Amino acid sequence: MEITWLGHSAVKIKGSKTIFIDPFLSGNPAASMSPEEISEADVVIVTHDHGDHKGDAFEICKKTNATLVSIHELAVEGESFGLTCEGMNIGGTVDVNGVKIHMVQALHSAEKGCATGVVIELDGKNIYHAGDTGLTLDMKIIGDFFHPDLSFIPIGDRYTMGANSAAKAVEYTQSKKVIPIHYGTFPLLEADPSIFKEKVANKAEVIILKPGETYSLQ
Ligand code: NI
Ligand code: MN
Repeated sequence: MEITWLGHSAVKIKGSKTIFIDPFLSGNPAASMSPEEISEADVVIVTHDHGDHKGDAFEICKKTNATLVSIHELAVEGESFGLTCEGMNIGGTVDVNGVKIHMVQALHSAEKGCATGVVIELDGKNIYHAGDTGLTLDMKIIGDFFHPDLSFIPIGDRYTMGANSAAKAVEYTQSKKVIPIHYGTFPLLEADPSIFKEKVANKAEVIILKPGETYSLQ
C-alpha cells in the first residue's frame, strides 16, 4: 500500500481503501496538498480535537462521503454537520467497510472528548498513528497486541514527545518501521529527524519523508 506524509500529522494511506488521518491542510505551512485536491476517501480518522489534527476532516468527509472515525464527542459534532460518523472510545474497535480501527491511549489534551491514538488494520498490515502523545508505558500494550508493521510517531517536542522519548516509544510499541511526524511545521516544532533516527538505532527502520513523499509499504 502507498503511504504519503502530507505534512505535520496528516497522512494518506492508499490500499484497498483510501484513508486520511488528521488531515490538517488548510493553514498548514508544511502541507503538501490542499483539501480541494482530495476527491476520493473512504475513511477519515481524527486522533483528537485540536485544530492541527481535526483540520479539514469535516469538509473532506462532506465532499467524499467518507466516514469520520473519532472519539465519541467529536463524532457527535460531525453528525450535526450531516456527516456519516463512527464515534468510539479508547479500547474499542470499529470496522468500516473492511478497515478495522482500534482506538488506543494518548497522553495529551483535547477540546472535545480526549486525545487518542489509533491502530489501523488494512490489507493484512497493522499501522499505528500515535496522534499527539507523551511517552507512556501503555504503549507496551500496543506492542503486545498489534506489533505494528508501521508507526507514525510525533517527535517535535513541546506538545508531544521529543527524539528521546519517541525512540523509547518505538521500542515499547515493537514497531518494525517508523515515520516521524509532528515536526518542522512551525518554528516551535523544529526538530532534526536524523537525531531521532540515531536514537532508534537498530530497533526499527526509520523512514524520513518530506511532506508529499510516498512510501510503499510491502
Ligand atoms: Ni494536540
Ligand atoms: Mn498537534
